[in-house]
Amino acid sequence: MKRFLVAIDGPAGAGKSTVARQVAERLGLTYVDTGAMYRALAWKALRDGVDMEDEEAVAHLAESITFTLEPNGIRVNGIPLKDEIRTPQVSELASAVATMPKVRKILVNKQQEIAASQSVVMDGRDIGTHVLPNADVKIFLTASIDERARRRYKELTAKGIPADLEALQEQIRRRDENDRNRAYAPLRQAEDAILVDTTNQSVQEVIEVILQHCRNKL
Ligand code: C5P
Repeated sequence: MKRFLVAIDGPAGAGKSTVARQVAERLGLTYVDTGAMYRALAWKALRDGVDMEDEEAVAHLAESITFTLEPNGIRVNGIPLKDEIRTPQVSELASAVATMPKVRKILVNKQQEIAASQSVVMDGRDIGTHVLPNADVKIFLTASIDERARRRYKELTAKGIPADLEALQEQIRRRDENDRNRAYAPLRQAEDAILVDTTNQSVQEVIEVILQHCRNKL
C-alpha cells in the first residue's frame, strides 16, 4: 500500500500533539512527535553535561543517540522519557538546540527515515515546509495567544502546578518569536497547507475537520 503522510505544524500550545496523536490513532497511522525529539536531545545533553552552546558537540550527541517514538512517549537509547522532558528548563533548552542548523539536519534526517517506511502523522514546526514537503495532507494549526495561554494555565493548575496567566502569555509570545524568526527552518505555513484556527473549537471538532481532509485524500 502507498504510504500516507500527514504533516501538522503550528506554534507552541496550539494543541498539535493532542490532535495529531488522536488523528493518527483514528487512521491507524504512526504518530511522530518531532518536538519530543528536540526535547529528548536537550534532556540528554543536560544529563551528559554537554556544552549547549557548542553546536558540534550537540550535533555529535544527536547523531549518536537512538530515538524510539512510541504512541505515548519517546525513548532515548532505550530509556523511556515522559514528564522530565516537559519541564520549563528542558523546554527552553529544546528551543535553543532547535536553532542549530547541524542539529536540525540530523534530526530531520531521522524524521525522514521514520516516514520512509511507513504512513505517519508527524507534528512539529517545519514538517510541511521541510521534513515532508510531499505530505498528502498539510495542516497549520493555530490559536490566539490568549487562548493558548489559557489552555496551558488550565493544564498546569489541573496538575496542581501554580501558574500565572500573564507570564504564560509572555512565554508563548517569546517562543513564537523564536520559532518564527530563527534563521534556519523557521515556523511558517506551507503554501499548500490548510489553516485550522482552533481558538473557538473543541479538540473533537478539530480532529473531525482534519480527518475529513485526510479522507478526501485517501
Ligand atoms: O512542540 P514542542 O513544544 O514539544 O517542541 C519543543 C521545541 O522544539 C520547540 O520550542 C521548537 O522550537 C522545537 N521544534 C522545532 N521543530 C520541530 C519540532 C519542535 O524547532 N519540528
